[in-house]
Amino acid sequence: MAFRNIKRSVQNTQRKTDDQNKLEPLRNKGHKMNTNSEIKNQYLLNWVKEIAALTKPVKIHFCDGSESENQMLIDQMVASGTLKKLNETLRPNSYLALSSPSDVARVEDRTFICSEKKSDAGPTNNWMEPSEMRTTLGKLFDGCMQGRTMYVIPFCMGPLGSPISKIGIEITDSPYVVVNMKIMTRMGSKTLDLLGDSENFVKCVHSVGMPLSAGQADVTWPCNSENKYIVHYPEEKSIWSFGSGYGGNALLGKKCFALRIASTLGRDEAWLAEHMLILGVESPNKEKKYVAAAFPSACGKTNFAMLIPPAGLENWKITTVGDDIAWIKPDLNGQLRAINPEAGYFGVAPGTSFKTNPNAMKTIATNTLFTNVALTPEGDVWWEGMTDVPPQNLTDWQGKSWTPDCGRTAAHPNARFTVAASQCPSADIDMENPAGVPISAFIFGGRRADTIPLVFQPKDWNTGVYFAATVGSETTAAATGAVGVVRRDPMAMLPFCGYNIGDYFKHWLKMPNRTAKNPDIFIVNWFRKNEAGKFMWPGYGENMRVLKWMFERMENKTAGIETPLGQMPQYKDIDWKGLDFTNEQFNAVMNINTEQWTKEIISHKTFFQTLDQSLPIEFMNIQEKNQVAFAQLN
Ligand code: GTP
Ligand code: SPV
Ligand code: MN
Repeated sequence: MAFRNIKRSVQNTQRKTDDQNKLEPLRNKGHKMNTNSEIKNQYLLNWVKEIAALTKPVKIHFCDGSESENQMLIDQMVASGTLKKLNETLRPNSYLALSSPSDVARVEDRTFICSEKKSDAGPTNNWMEPSEMRTTLGKLFDGCMQGRTMYVIPFCMGPLGSPISKIGIEITDSPYVVVNMKIMTRMGSKTLDLLGDSENFVKCVHSVGMPLSAGQADVTWPCNSENKYIVHYPEEKSIWSFGSGYGGNALLGKKCFALRIASTLGRDEAWLAEHMLILGVESPNKEKKYVAAAFPSACGKTNFAMLIPPAGLENWKITTVGDDIAWIKPDLNGQLRAINPEAGYFGVAPGTSFKTNPNAMKTIATNTLFTNVALTPEGDVWWEGMTDVPPQNLTDWQGKSWTPDCGRTAAHPNARFTVAASQCPSADIDMENPAGVPISAFIFGGRRADTIPLVFQPKDWNTGVYFAATVGSETTAAATGAVGVVRRDPMAMLPFCGYNIGDYFKHWLKMPNRTAKNPDIFIVNWFRKNEAGKFMWPGYGENMRVLKWMFERMENKTAGIETPLGQMPQYKDIDWKGLDFTNEQFNAVMNINTEQWTKEIISHKTFFQTLDQSLPIEFMNIQEKNQVAFAQLN
């Protein structure tokens, strides 16, 4: 029996001797458990027992991931009002959840990396001394599941059996989390079988932070509006989340594990965990390449991953491997290969339509959980941008009656759908391949109304990493806080890098030592606006034209022109078949405004100054060179 590491996961306040930790049937402790006799992993049982002793649920349920279990939880949530069943004809087997208005997005200011050393969390993460945090959390978690069922969710990030995949166990008091985890991960008995009696899993503890005293009625979206903590202990590979039931705060396999904890594993084991979509591009003569692209939250990853080539380029084909997270490793030949650790999409609903993303619309036609979208009188869903003309009346995301002129949005801007990736019409044939797919290029971008052109290719790896590290983006509703201000979001990982960002940059700069051939790096911006505030690039499917140019660059089949930013296409280098887009319009999305760029390059320096001494010296050198280059242009 393996008790070796158990103390590391024990709350200071809850330390016990190894002897006391030996297995006793949990039901003797006053907890009801469903499948106690089937769980053989002593290490897991001991940990569950320990968390139950702390959080004091009325019942413990080990999730097997079965359909019947899923249906039982859904029925229970329909009965309690947490879920509403949608019209079975219009939206078969689909449900709507409305969250509390205080719990609608990730809470970056309540997210902590509690590494032993503060310098390992670095200048961009909140940090607290781990023992101090354990004391704080020990108090909050004490009795926090009173009156609730505790669910134990075994889940696998990545295809079952892939050498790249990793197992986690999430303990939660939210049945909404269980049904979401079933879609987003490989969840249940198969994962538990794969784990066997190993201790090698990431421990994830989640509570909505709203215990129920005897006789107290529950609310439809329990959460804690006063206290929220999303805490990572990278050394012991554990995650503690308190007070929120929403998205990345609560589905701990996603941002907490697959990005923050996984990025630290990648640092230590020479691989990358990235906030990237993965797509396949196939040319008319059946050459296929895969690219991975990092855009900040709500900046177009799902749209790009499911792109349908526009009229004129219809003999190109795009296939989807992932829409949010990529785990990328060099194989034995030095080829970088990527898997999508997730099994589903937790996608932004507003803006999704048959015009902007038909594949997503088809994916969510059935078997989908919607959160914080509006409800039509017929019992279907609606959100801003789904149709040109809004319905005349709706029930909005707060459950209030809504009309087009009421001055509120019907759906919350960060409303989401949860759906299995297997339902996507553009799912790639190698989506489940345990070996992953070979990556030929990395694309980075943000949401910028000016300065950044539609596309450029920095001249070498280090310069590419520099531009990726200095990507700025106007903030969106995917995180709480001000919306629409430009912030630097390196590799779209600012809220997700689980360690010192300077060390992360160095990790990227070292990649050439580990690969046979580096992928190409491109920077894009789909979001330039004109003076009237309108997007100047049609975007969505039309992004295929930019992707085609990149594809040809990867094969050295097209030239660009040299600019201070690197290679850029000229008007003639882009395939315009089927689109009326003039040379003048092209210049408007491509031009390099030296005044804006001078400011931009200086702001890179300002950003670097906010980082600590772990910033790579290469970046300062590139920054200086760029500053000189743009000064000469002025
Ligand atoms: P997370 O799931 O939060 O990580 O975000 P994501 O990057 O997957 O976001 P998603 O693809 O769902 O982006 C949604 C927003 O981007 C919506 O407001 C879309 O309308 C907008 N969007 C996506 N692609 C384009 C594009 O090519 N042009 C423009 N102008 N907007 C786009
Ligand atoms: C993001 O914010 O980048 C998301 C949604 O993908 S969440 O899982 O809530 O973080
Ligand atoms: Mn994301």
